[in-house]
Amino acid sequence: MEPRQRFDVVGGPAIAAILSKGKHQILELVRETYLLHHAARTTNPDSYFLRFDDKPTARIIALPARLRGAEDIAGIKWIASFPENKDIPLPRASAVVVLNDMATGFPYACLEGSQISAVRTAASATLAAELLHRGKQAGRVAVIGAGPIASAVVNFMLATGWSVGQFQAHDLIGARARAFCDSLREAGSRAEFADSAKHAIDGADLVVFATTAARPYLEDPALFTPDQTVLHVSLRDLGVDVILSAQNVVDDVEHCLKAQTSVHLAEQTTGSRDFVNGTIGDLISGRLQPDQRRARIFSPFGLGVLDIAVARFVHEKAVASGGAATIDDFFVSA
Ligand SMILES: NC(=O)c1ccc[n+]([C@@H]2O[C@H](COP(=O)([O-])OP(=O)(O)OC[C@H]3O[C@@H](n4cnc5c(N)ncnc54)[C@H](O)[C@@H]3O)[C@@H](O)[C@H]2O)c1
Repeated sequence: MEPRQRFDVVGGPAIAAILSKGKHQILELVRETYLLHHAARTTNPDSYFLRFDDKPTARIIALPARLRGAEDIAGIKWIASFPENKDIPLPRASAVVVLNDMATGFPYACLEGSQISAVRTAASATLAAELLHRGKQAGRVAVIGAGPIASAVVNFMLATGWSVGQFQAHDLIGARARAFCDSLREAGSRAEFADSAKHAIDGADLVVFATTAARPYLEDPALFTPDQTVLHVSLRDLGVDVILSAQNVVDDVEHCLKAQTSVHLAEQTTGSRDFVNGTIGDLISGRLQPDQRRARIFSPFGLGVLDIAVARFVHEKAVASGGAATIDDFFVSA
């Protein structure tokens, strides 16, 4: 059979097994992918948001991308966010990633995407934390919003060698933050419930935001101290004055200053992008240094190239380990 006629499906359990063992490799892969993006060896158009009049809180986002590294790869993540799923209950986010062969254009694999999306987000946040915080040690980590993305971030940090004295978790749904702390304690960490975001943040070295806030609710420019590093994964928690008080690092300036993110609001307020100090690519390549005189905030919009890079890695491992189901007659023969 011609390679282009092969079509693989890789399901959630096979992906979970691969991701649980591959975190160090994925961290390196994400670092390399950011460098390729920095070197303009990627094509990463704007994400396309499909929204619905009769379901205003729901959306499905398309993130197509091409990555020209050691191998030329392309594909798309198609990720749904249906917040009302929590009442069923089902996860808010669900996704697939499709990979395309760049010789023929043929799609050759479809992978369960929510885990890939979560792990690339976690790897990106972990990498930024390492670069901005200079090392892998935190006396206290504050977690605001205790859903699957927050879990993915803290689990990724712990699996890649971070030493954390204590976690403090806050969520609008107290039971979620408590369950989050329970699972961290079961895994051997110290973790405490915090009854407000402010309580969690005060005294923390590292602050992780993974809420679903649609607009800023923390406005005090004195919220953070210079010894704090902030992973603003959910992008819309911080008021303009908080953003302007800090060193700001994004994954991609064009992407991140859109869709009413906090940094987008800061651009609208100031009429300039001068408050953005650089990208994670600048940090990795040494062109930007962390500023120790003020808090450092990383705001990652989330690049499709990361999903494609991680999906390709997962697909290769799944094929090698027998975890991919091949559909031989998916395409019609010529
Ligand atoms: N930047 C990226 O690359 C990237 C990638 C994936 C997900 N995300 C974002 O990460 C966020 C979390 O994703 P998830 O799948 O864990 O979502 P989720 O809905 O499963 O969990 C979010 C949690 O945040 C809590 N929350 C909402 N508003 C809050 C507030 N103001 N204060 C405290 N807690 C609050 C909710 O109660 C919920 O428990 C989402 O906003 C998602 O869009 C970003």
